[in-house]
Amino acid sequence: MKIEMNISSSNFPLLNWIVVLLLNFALICEADPRISESGLICGTNRTTAAIIIPQFVKLMEVVSQRVTDNNWGNHGVNSTNISIYALANCYQDLPHQDCLLCYAASRTRLPRCLPGKSGRIYLDGCFLRYDHYNFFNETTDSAEDRVNCSSSNGVATGQELATLNASTGNLIDEMTKTAVANGGYAAANLNGVYGLAQCWRTLSTSGCKKCLDKASRDIKGCLPSRDARALIAGCYLRYSTQKFLNDPSGNSNGGISKGVIVAIVLGVTAFTMLALSAAYTARKRSLRRKQARINLGKISNSYKKSSLNFKYENLEKATNYFDPSTKVGQGGNGSVYKGTLPNGNVIAVKRLFFNTRQWVDDFFNEVNLIHGIEHKNLVKLLGCSIEGPESLLVYEFVTNKSLDQYLFDKDKVKILSWEERFRIIVGTAQGIDFLHGGSEIRIIHRDIKSSNVLLDENLEAKIADFGLARCFGADKTHLSTGIAGTLGYMAPEYLVKGQLTEKADVYSYGVLVLEIVSGRKSIAFAEDSGSLLQTVWKLYTTNQVTEALDPLLKGDFPREEASKVLKVGLLCTQASVALRPSMSEVVQMLTCEGYQIPEPCQPPFLNSNLLAGGSIKSSIRSLVSNALYKLDESSSYATTTGSSSMQSSSTGPHKSDEFLLKESENRK
Ligand SMILES: *[C@@H]1O[C@H](CO)[C@@H](O)[C@H](O)[C@H]1NC(C)=O
Ligand SMILES: *[C@@H]1O[C@H](CO)[C@@H](O)[C@H](O)[C@H]1NC(C)=O
Ligand SMILES: *[C@@H]1O[C@H](CO)[C@@H](O)[C@H](O)[C@H]1NC(C)=O
Ligand SMILES: *[C@@H]1O[C@H](CO)[C@@H](O)[C@H](O)[C@H]1NC(C)=O
Ligand SMILES: *[C@@H]1O[C@H](CO)[C@@H](O)[C@H](O)[C@H]1NC(C)=O
Ligand SMILES: *[C@@H]1O[C@H](CO)[C@@H](O)[C@H](O)[C@H]1NC(C)=O
Repeated sequence: MKIEMNISSSNFPLLNWIVVLLLNFALICEADPRISESGLICGTNRTTAAIIIPQFVKLMEVVSQRVTDNNWGNHGVNSTNISIYALANCYQDLPHQDCLLCYAASRTRLPRCLPGKSGRIYLDGCFLRYDHYNFFNETTDSAEDRVNCSSSNGVATGQELATLNASTGNLIDEMTKTAVANGGYAAANLNGVYGLAQCWRTLSTSGCKKCLDKASRDIKGCLPSRDARALIAGCYLRYSTQKFLNDPSGNSNGGISKGVIVAIVLGVTAFTMLALSAAYTARKRSLRRKQARINLGKISNSYKKSSLNFKYENLEKATNYFDPSTKVGQGGNGSVYKGTLPNGNVIAVKRLFFNTRQWVDDFFNEVNLIHGIEHKNLVKLLGCSIEGPESLLVYEFVTNKSLDQYLFDKDKVKILSWEERFRIIVGTAQGIDFLHGGSEIRIIHRDIKSSNVLLDENLEAKIADFGLARCFGADKTHLSTGIAGTLGYMAPEYLVKGQLTEKADVYSYGVLVLEIVSGRKSIAFAEDSGSLLQTVWKLYTTNQVTEALDPLLKGDFPREEASKVLKVGLLCTQASVALRPSMSEVVQMLTCEGYQIPEPCQPPFLNSNLLAGGSIKSSIRSLVSNALYKLDESSSYATTTGSSSMQSSSTGPHKSDEFLLKESENRK
């Protein structure tokens, strides 16, 4: 107890340093989400229309929340029409952040089994399964259980094999015992062989034993392979001569492993001894400041002199000490507060989650660069504070709310007219175009979405949150914080291959345009972004422009212009990077009369057969790899409009789809 208090409130600089170092060390060591795939098993049983995409997505959202809270989660729905159950379970040695990433990866890959089949996927760090019956206490499954005797690590021979054989046998028996006794998890290391055993958290002790017994029997058959995994209905077992565990002895559920805790405790104890002779009087505030200065080290003089430098105390006062009532938003990297400076200027202060020595210099350079960027459609960055106990960014305050609140909130402040929407669409394009090439530095936003477009008092679009992505170890935090919010906007090549170019922004912009025009949200998960793109695409190709537009417009828009905007939106969301226009071309398309706009092809993630539950061709089994396939095949592929459509499927479209689809049916 006493020791812990010392960690948080001590004013002994060295101690803080040690803690900071150890924490950083822990983060570096444990930054492997282990997302390589050891088995994807799609059920042999076709589940009749029971398992369908919208229900699957809803279910996964619940599970996702539970995984965020507990590192595992399950949920089931059983009503007259639909019965679907899902379970996600990270292996217990995986730190929380990595667990979220692993879950996200499994969540993206599992839909390869959709629409008709149940599925389970084993990654090296986590497990995810859905099925049409309650499988939560299922231990083994003779039809689907398997082992993966991976050959990537080679096979042992001769003396090595004898040792491996002996060690592995003992290791596995030992782990099985430990796991059954310790709530379903064990990790160990014996003579250079590492092992991990994990039962799903829904199993009883006896169920866990039954499952691991089978896993042990099966996995022993993998010898002489140096690496093997048993993928059983109720559990996972792995051995390897390579260290794949985060901490073989630990059982940490959170971010810090046992070893690190031990080190911290030792360090703390040592310094507590020294501390006994030191006076302990400083007040809390000055303590925090001093601690921060130590954490951050020496801050460059250029920063101190810079006009970008805001004093932490001033920002604290401006926001009334970050009073919750001044909070105006919550972004991926931090919360945003409204504040008023002594001179009366109103500002927005973003409180960042991250604050470590490593990125302070980078961060300041970045702020310095971005500060120079000024455009009517970009939110202006006024400066930052990096000396205080946490890092803050200061932006101009934009009076009105973000675009998503205008488009999707139930009780809207105001329904945007066509002219207003068009101006927002053009303004956003000009803002992004400026980021891409309007100044000396080239900035890819990476996170264009309706909640990042703010509207000022004249309903002029202002893009927020650009340029700092590079500071945040971008993709990792991006994914983990953006699982729910951003996937629907991510370009397939960025989502799947991590390829980042300006064209990724163009794709997100295209999705945004279609949202603004249709008044419908692109659903969070990749495979579902199909439903917005698909609906619009279908209506566009059948020339039903009116049906594609937000019904709240009540038909009040110039048809030709609306058709042009839809076309631009579809062009921006082409699967092939080469077919997407650049942002400057987009601006011209929108603003120049008579600009020749090429005809778009079908956007990615679409296959009406898939959505309707029809037959699946093996080459397009995966909704994601479907997009990839199209990427690789590049420009031309046949469209499938007019074949089986969503209307005729028994699968019950999304609520928001329903309206449009019914509308379009009525017109026929
Ligand atoms: C077995 O696991 C390895 C390593 O994760 C993976 O590369 C391989 O594809 C897996 N084999 C099967 C059949 O899934
Ligand atoms: C299909 O699922 C049912 C349960 O719904 C099960 O009884 C049956 O054995 C399964 N058939 C196959 C071939 O797996
Ligand atoms: C069940 O399906 C029937 C027709 O397929 C439909 O009328 C009914 O509303 C559905 N009930 C629920 C709870 O979804
Ligand atoms: C699901 O509901 C059906 C009937 O509504 C029932 O027969 C079945 O036992 C239920 N399954 C579970 C796991 O509760
Ligand atoms: C699994 O759970 C179901 C109900 O959820 C129960 O009927 C069944 O007996 C359980 N099986 C085992 C092996 O515990
Ligand atoms: C491994 O050890 C078992 C006895 O524990 C023995 O029966 C088996 O032949 C050994 N396998 C190899 C490949 O050495």
